[in-house]
Amino acid sequence: MSRVCINIAWPYSNGAIHLGHLAGSLLPPDIFSRYNRLLGNEVLMVGGSDQHGTPITVSAEKCGMTPEAYADKFHEINKKAIEDMGIEYSLFNKTHCAVHTEVVQDIFLKLKDKGLIYTKQTDQYFCPKCNRFLPDRYVEGVCPICGNQKTRSDQCDACGTTFEPGDLKEPYCTLCGATPEIRPTEHFFLKLSAFREELIALMDSKDHWRANVKAFTKNWLEDGLHDRAITRDMAWGVPIPMDGWDDKVIYVWFEAVIGYLSSSVEYSRSIGKPDYWELFWKDPECRHYYFIGKDNIPFHSIIWPAILMGIGDMTLPYDIPANEYLMIGGGKFSKSRGGAIDVPSVLEQYDADVVRYYLSAIMPDTHDSEFSWADFQTKVNNELVANLGNYYHRCLSFTAKNFGSIPAGADDEEVTKAIADALAEYNACLGACDFKKGIKVVMDLGHFGNRYFDSKKPWALVKEDKDACGAVMYNNLRLVKALCVMAWPFMPKSSERIWGFLGCEGTLEQAGIGAVETPLDAGQALGDSVPVYKKVEIKMEEEQKQEVKETKKEKQQPKAAVPEGPFAAFRRMDVRVGEVIQVDDHPEAEKLYVLKVDLGEEEPRQIVTNLKTVYPVDQMLGRKLLVISNLKPAKFRGVRSEGMLMALDDEPLGGSAILLLKPATDVPNGTRINCGLENSSSRIEVKHCEAVTIKVAHLADGKFMGRDIELPEGAPDIVAAIIDGDDIIVFGDGNGCVMTVESPDFIDGADVV
Ligand code: MF3
Ligand code: ZN
Repeated sequence: MSRVCINIAWPYSNGAIHLGHLAGSLLPPDIFSRYNRLLGNEVLMVGGSDQHGTPITVSAEKCGMTPEAYADKFHEINKKAIEDMGIEYSLFNKTHCAVHTEVVQDIFLKLKDKGLIYTKQTDQYFCPKCNRFLPDRYVEGVCPICGNQKTRSDQCDACGTTFEPGDLKEPYCTLCGATPEIRPTEHFFLKLSAFREELIALMDSKDHWRANVKAFTKNWLEDGLHDRAITRDMAWGVPIPMDGWDDKVIYVWFEAVIGYLSSSVEYSRSIGKPDYWELFWKDPECRHYYFIGKDNIPFHSIIWPAILMGIGDMTLPYDIPANEYLMIGGGKFSKSRGGAIDVPSVLEQYDADVVRYYLSAIMPDTHDSEFSWADFQTKVNNELVANLGNYYHRCLSFTAKNFGSIPAGADDEEVTKAIADALAEYNACLGACDFKKGIKVVMDLGHFGNRYFDSKKPWALVKEDKDACGAVMYNNLRLVKALCVMAWPFMPKSSERIWGFLGCEGTLEQAGIGAVETPLDAGQALGDSVPVYKKVEIKMEEEQKQEVKETKKEKQQPKAAVPEGPFAAFRRMDVRVGEVIQVDDHPEAEKLYVLKVDLGEEEPRQIVTNLKTVYPVDQMLGRKLLVISNLKPAKFRGVRSEGMLMALDDEPLGGSAILLLKPATDVPNGTRINCGLENSSSRIEVKHCEAVTIKVAHLADGKFMGRDIELPEGAPDIVAAIIDGDDIIVFGDGNGCVMTVESPDFIDGADVV
């Protein structure tokens, strides 16, 4: 037995949790926790609602509620949704509570005493009408560089310039429209710089961290690790435990991560063993896992470890299995995308286990994955119901009907081997937090079972040789038992029912992983089995109707049956190699170039680009690059642009590189980059390009972001590739010329935009 501490990212109580939260950070830890419980490990699983921060105060105000009432309302809703999904925390806590405040303030003072927290003066936007300081996202105005309207106060999305408070022209408060002022304000800073060496050592000792986690962390560390403000000018949050600081609170991110510890403490007190948490947090051998979404990585791989190091003698993270995003309709899952994707409404229509199955099967563990109701219906009906559910039911009902109890039989070697092989692979997957593969192992064993059943024809055998048929069913039931144990972490309720139908004693959890291979008791009475999974039919919400309509539309087109997804979307793009033959400054916008690009056509194309800050004229002139050539022309500040350049941007990964893509070998202007896919050249809009995921990365051990990739001879060691689920194709002309960039300084996995 060993101890495992499972820490789960705290969803904001700023709305009901949706399927993106489930697939990203809530379901994986529950699968992992149940797996550990099957192994007989002692699990402490903590997390809760993140209740502080400005967005919650803004939402509360809009509803005419106090932040506390508002945050508690969603805490209760989400707590129930999580329970209904069968996700079993030791404690699902909330950050606005006494114990959390106590632990946070205690740590704050401890770090301050050690000189790891200090004060400094900064400038901030302040809205005189709302009477509050405004975080970046609450101030907009006109970009001083490119003139873009409605620009956020921290960065211009149009030209990429970043700003300090005061840079923006015509700033206004997005809450009330008033003009904000700049006010000096004093804050506490965490001396992150003091932990640089220790943090690098932590990261270097973790070979098993996922590539995305390593990349983000490395980038932050290499960037020099700046000290960060850990207090804010507002009233809602954990108070600063010092006199004279009443108008400020501790920053939500600094205190929320401490929630892992405070909820462990609170749980320990609630079970009457106030020191219980120390078994997990003071033992360097206890493995701590943090299940989070990728946007939370630096807070868990840098800030939280730094706080733990600052406290001293605390167990540091062992693994941070951060997931990518679950997408819907090509975009990120969010409240505003509507549809019945929040967990409470989904649970009104579907069983928790069915949803758990689908989300496990499409889990965005190493890359973004796409959710759709049509796919939900297909996967549930064709896989869960037709394979696993069908196998359970045909075995149990056939045996019950013909034998009444578990018949006697000898172990069939073929079955023994199938179970043993599946179990070994299953253990490898689940031990490494590879749940998508794990559920596939279970389903594959289900397929094996169905084939075994069919090949033995028990329905005929029972008439010819009942004992032989009994032996066959004995072996089928061994498979049923193995399957329901292995499926339990993914689909607990239904697996427990199968366990009951088999007539097994106690709970499946008590039986443990060993039950996969232990013999069955002949003569054990079977319960009355019913199918545990039912086919689903998607209810036509607006968004789903839309989805179906679009599928239909595609079907009506002559070529039809184009599956959605990055490859399909890429087929709509006409990408060509071009050469820059003229570079002019934009007459109106300081940060824009107007280029003439030779695409092998009669006339060069005119293209407006914001890469002026990145590439000086001499680096631009004569450059070979890639142009999306079939975009509808657009005007940028009055100048017509007839195409878009393709460049990698690693900023979403925490980097700052913008690099133009280029062909790795010399190919004529106008060469079509179609990766060997046929593509159309009808006019498209920018939004049509959004579903295409082109990533750029260095090859590591011949692999591209952990995947096998086929490359032509002589290919460079930085390439771009299009990723579509598990499929990957190198981005190139399909004839041996692949795309690359000339500088190695960017974060692997950067998207091409
Ligand atoms: N509330 C944050 C989010 O949804 C996650 C906080 S995780 C914690 O992105 F560690 F800080 F608690
Ligand atoms: Zn205002």
